[in-house]
Amino acid sequence: MDFGKKNRLSRVIKSDGRCFFLPIDHGYFLGPTQSLEKPAETIAPLLPYCDALFVTRGVLRSCVDPADPTPIILRISGGPSVVGKDLADESITTSIEEVIRLNASAVGISIFVGSDYEHQTILNLAKTVDQCEKYGIPVMAVTAVGKETEKRKARYLALSCRIAAEMGATVVKTYWCRDFDKVVDSCPVPIVMAGGPKCETELEVFEFVHDGLEKGAIGVNLGRNVWQNPHPVAVARALQAVIHNNATPKEAYELFKELKNK
Ligand code: 5RP
Repeated sequence: MDFGKKNRLSRVIKSDGRCFFLPIDHGYFLGPTQSLEKPAETIAPLLPYCDALFVTRGVLRSCVDPADPTPIILRISGGPSVVGKDLADESITTSIEEVIRLNASAVGISIFVGSDYEHQTILNLAKTVDQCEKYGIPVMAVTAVGKETEKRKARYLALSCRIAAEMGATVVKTYWCRDFDKVVDSCPVPIVMAGGPKCETELEVFEFVHDGLEKGAIGVNLGRNVWQNPHPVAVARALQAVIHNNATPKEAYELFKELKNK
């Protein structure tokens, strides 16, 4: 790996090999998502506790302070909306010149394996890797399921992750699931876990993150379970303890309880 790509990767994945990405890209197909109506207000208290922000160019330009040191992972795929025909019908939305102009440390792009648009979205990823490799920019592939949440099972996710890795993704973002080790073990590049809809309890979040890390994931790309919680900073700091300080779920929950009333 050349210096540029290594350097960018080391901004988003810390020296312990772990990472906590904070995604706020949901509006690219969901519009003004709950608790993300005003992205600048949502992220301000959270930025000190995450390792990178996953965001579209529009929200980056309008809601993020260019002087903030948090590295940026730029969401560069999109097209359909939640009220449109098919969430999987994505194209590449952002050029490589924009990625460079915005000084992104990495890009993120979705693939929809098994959908009517698997060919198109897998080629989107492959073309993105071609472009990004020229300039040493890491690519995070997002194994998206759209509205088909029942797809979040080890067999399907292992298939999607492996295809993303074969296309040249630097890192793959996927969902935690039962038998998550089967997903991690058959993917030759690092995996980060997405959250999905908000869990019932904070302990549940800490438990699945801890389990995924034990099974080989390098970190998380966790949004709604952080910023839709009434105590987002306490969740973020407890997650940081699980990811970077090997806290157990119980220890993280105790920390969360201590911090939430501060
Ligand atoms: C949306 C995304 C999000 O970044 C991803 O789903 C993570 O967010 P959450 O933890 O809220 O699910 O890629 O397509």
